[in-house]
Amino acid sequence: MTDSQDQRDKRREYGSKPLRRINLFENPFEQFGQWLEDAEAAGAIDATAMTLATVDSQGMPSARTVLMKHFDEQGFCWYTHYLSQKGMELAENTKACLLFYWRDISRQVSIRGTVTKLPDSDSDHYFQSRPEGSRFSAAGSRQSSEVSSRGVLETAVDTLRKKHPSGDVPRPKNWGGYCLSPISLEFWQGRDDRLHDRFRYQLESSGHWVINRLAP
Ligand SMILES: Cc1cc2nc3c(=O)[nH]c(=O)nc-3n(C[C@H](O)[C@H](O)[C@H](O)COP(=O)(O)O)c2cc1C
Repeated sequence: MTDSQDQRDKRREYGSKPLRRINLFENPFEQFGQWLEDAEAAGAIDATAMTLATVDSQGMPSARTVLMKHFDEQGFCWYTHYLSQKGMELAENTKACLLFYWRDISRQVSIRGTVTKLPDSDSDHYFQSRPEGSRFSAAGSRQSSEVSSRGVLETAVDTLRKKHPSGDVPRPKNWGGYCLSPISLEFWQGRDDRLHDRFRYQLESSGHWVINRLAP
């Protein structure tokens, strides 16, 4: 291994800020909201960026970053192309995982659950709120399909711009939102010497959330 490949000596301490059971909200969505606020207050860039992991019909996983646009007790929502790789995988297997990592405050949150499509009205509303350029790009690109060159994409967008000179391009019917409704959320707080704090909320059939500490 050359020096540049060897990452074994690169390490940092994660901090002494503890995460205690007594300080946790009983409701994981409140806990998440507090941590998202903390990440934003700490200046995290793209604090709403989350890794979305899906699994195909053969059990092969894939992951990519998406931006969380909304969350509440129903779940965590994002927008994308329904015929993308993730969209096709979610059509076959609705179970997925979301992961937030906030480096600046040494925290991660891992959320597992089931994904459903948002109502068309929500997707329409969000699509219309996007900047014009983003709307044309979404409408001109069938996400995750193979393209022979960037020129092909640019031509597709130019054609759409000519067709809709007012800028009012409609939402493609295969572009829209998803919502992951959680069955578990794990909050991880990095601690010195790798003795991290981890708490997992699990949804019981009664609808209550049970909280357990996990070993790091
Ligand atoms: C910071 C960041 C934010 C992103 N946000 C989104 C998003 O909200 N929706 C989306 O479809 N792709 C988003 N992407 C692109 C995806 O990571 C991915 O390339 C794309 O969705 C295609 O994924 P797939 O082929 O696995 O379906 C984002 C990428 C980055 C790095």
